[in-house]
Amino acid sequence: ARHLLGIEHLAPEEIRTVLDLADRYVELNRRTVKRTDVLAGMTQINMFFENSTRTQSSFELAGKRLGADVMNMSMQTSSVKKGETLIDTALTLNAMHPDLLVVRHASSGAVELLSQKVNCAVINAGDGKHEHPTQALLDALTIRRSKGRIEGLTVAICGDVSHSRVARSNLFLLGKMKNRIRLIGPPTLMPSGISEFGCEVFENMREGLEGADVVMMLRLQKERMDGGFIPSEREYFFRYGLDAEKLACAKPDAIVMHPGPMNRGVEIDGTIADDITRSVIQDQVEMGVAVRMAVMDLLAQNLRAERGRAAVGDVY
Ligand code: CP
Repeated sequence: ARHLLGIEHLAPEEIRTVLDLADRYVELNRRTVKRTDVLAGMTQINMFFENSTRTQSSFELAGKRLGADVMNMSMQTSSVKKGETLIDTALTLNAMHPDLLVVRHASSGAVELLSQKVNCAVINAGDGKHEHPTQALLDALTIRRSKGRIEGLTVAICGDVSHSRVARSNLFLLGKMKNRIRLIGPPTLMPSGISEFGCEVFENMREGLEGADVVMMLRLQKERMDGGFIPSEREYFFRYGLDAEKLACAKPDAIVMHPGPMNRGVEIDGTIADDITRSVIQDQVEMGVAVRMAVMDLLAQNLRAERGRAAVGDVY
């Protein structure tokens, strides 16, 4: 494929290919000298129209470690602020011949629309409530390295499912890999018809966590609740915040995950988040760099094949 826009249309074999390559990049990233040249001579532009800590910094590091020329567009100081549209911004950057565009946008579908207007590879770094494919891939790598497999597990995804692109991408990925998925949360934060995805839905957190191998917590995404019901944080923590007592309902060796950013004392107790015997939250961050290196490496291979070895400017 030219782009990575979502998990929905990936085959299980394609997912395994990314994870296998990412495993090799984990080893590289643990060395003192982390640089390779698989993207040497290529240009990567990161366009984040929404805030980010993990995704933007890991894409930047991933590109640099692969030897690309990386540019971070500052959307706060760009001409978007003067009314330039997403597409005009993309066409402008496209005219500078980037090879990879990494895009985060608040609107679902915006990244796919952009991908139709440019002639480079586009990676979705999160579009509205739609998909966050590299997050699901890094979550899968974290689970596979911790549990030894990414199939046949019981995974509980807890919290604000309805506004979560992380939950959606994980539903696709974990479903394709034949895991048992449980969604836990208040009905007000659960999309209608979600059980059609083949998952079980629970309102009671203790019941939903019973026997889970993986507990994946989600943030209350107030920025997407536009006028809808926002639960009180105290009440929410009492019913859906992960603490030691609720975690005891899961398997004794269940791992705790959170994509970040985390709101301690709202969806997760800080002591659980920091307990490295259970929490793999920092591993998720580490896997994020490796997965993004793997994705960009594979897309660059496809791009080179597509353009052909004789193309002007192709140094390979
Ligand atoms: N998980 C995630 O996407 O975090 P950021 O918003 O900080 O990139």
